[in-house]
Amino acid sequence: MDTETKIYCSCIWTFFFLVFTFIVGSIIADLVIPPQKIAILDANLTRFELAASPTTSLSYNLSFTMSIHNSVWDDKADYHDMEVNCYYYSEQFDSRKLGDFMLKSRRTRLFNLSRSGNSSVDLGSNGVDAFKRSNETGFFDLEIWLKGKRIFEADEGDRHVHLYYQCKLRLQLMASQNSTTQGNFKPVKCH
Ligand SMILES: *[C@@H]1O[C@H](CO)[C@@H](O)[C@H](O)[C@H]1NC(C)=O
Ligand SMILES: *[C@@H]1O[C@H](CO)[C@@H](O)[C@H](O)[C@H]1NC(C)=O
Ligand SMILES: *[C@@H]1O[C@H](CO)[C@@H](O)[C@H](O)[C@H]1NC(C)=O
Ligand SMILES: *[C@@H]1O[C@H](CO)[C@@H](O)[C@H](O)[C@H]1NC(C)=O
Ligand SMILES: *[C@@H]1O[C@H](CO)[C@@H](O)[C@H](O)[C@H]1NC(C)=O
Ligand SMILES: *[C@@H]1O[C@H](CO)[C@@H](O)[C@H](O)[C@H]1NC(C)=O
Repeated sequence: MDTETKIYCSCIWTFFFLVFTFIVGSIIADLVIPPQKIAILDANLTRFELAASPTTSLSYNLSFTMSIHNSVWDDKADYHDMEVNCYYYSEQFDSRKLGDFMLKSRRTRLFNLSRSGNSSVDLGSNGVDAFKRSNETGFFDLEIWLKGKRIFEADEGDRHVHLYYQCKLRLQLMASQNSTTQGNFKPVKCH
């Protein structure tokens, strides 16, 4: 083979390899990751206090807007047993059931969730130190998890796929009256 033929051949092989990788990749992505986009569009943290002693009582007031988008082109999405859990330093402090709902293709649903209360948490000494540092700066790292399942209609019957998304937020604690610090929240994508 002359050099030109060799280059031509390797190009063909590279082309087939890319096509093959793309097809296999799309199939795997379709099977494993149900296509939807989850994001937190806005959030307000107006209270986040850890009792001085014992440091296991967390009082909070958090409101946020979560968007769930069904990005499939041609199919509705059936969501079941959906729930939102709020975490600080790996400790869950709040939970809210969203229940079952349906989204047509390429539709988005917004949930405005307002959570407040007192919760018992076990942060450990590292968590308490982290809290104290955040308490000084006024910025807290919270996580919001979305869990549930999505049901697909398939030829062989319904297929259940479990969903699991994490949204990492860094929120500035704000006094409810202080509006100057509000409105600077950047939407966060969940993975
Ligand atoms: C939580 O904060 C909001 C303001 O962002 C306020 O309207 C609401 O009354 C507060 N809820 C509680 C239980 O303190
Ligand atoms: C956050 O607070 C601002 C100002 O009070 C308000 O406009 C916005 O709707 C609030 N967002 C949420 C998710 O509660
Ligand atoms: C949720 O809040 C957004 C603004 O943050 C608003 O556009 C939307 O209509 C609200 N949705 C519901 C169901 O209250
Ligand atoms: C949480 O505890 C605080 C005092 O630490 C109290 O003022 C508040 O009413 C409590 N909130 C709830 C929802 O129990
Ligand atoms: C957090 O900061 C406030 C003052 O901004 C203080 O009163 C409170 O004791 C602090 N909490 C902890 C657990 O350090
Ligand atoms: C509101 O927040 C801004 C920026 O953090 C701060 O400079 C201002 O003093 C606050 N105002 C009140 C009334 O707390």
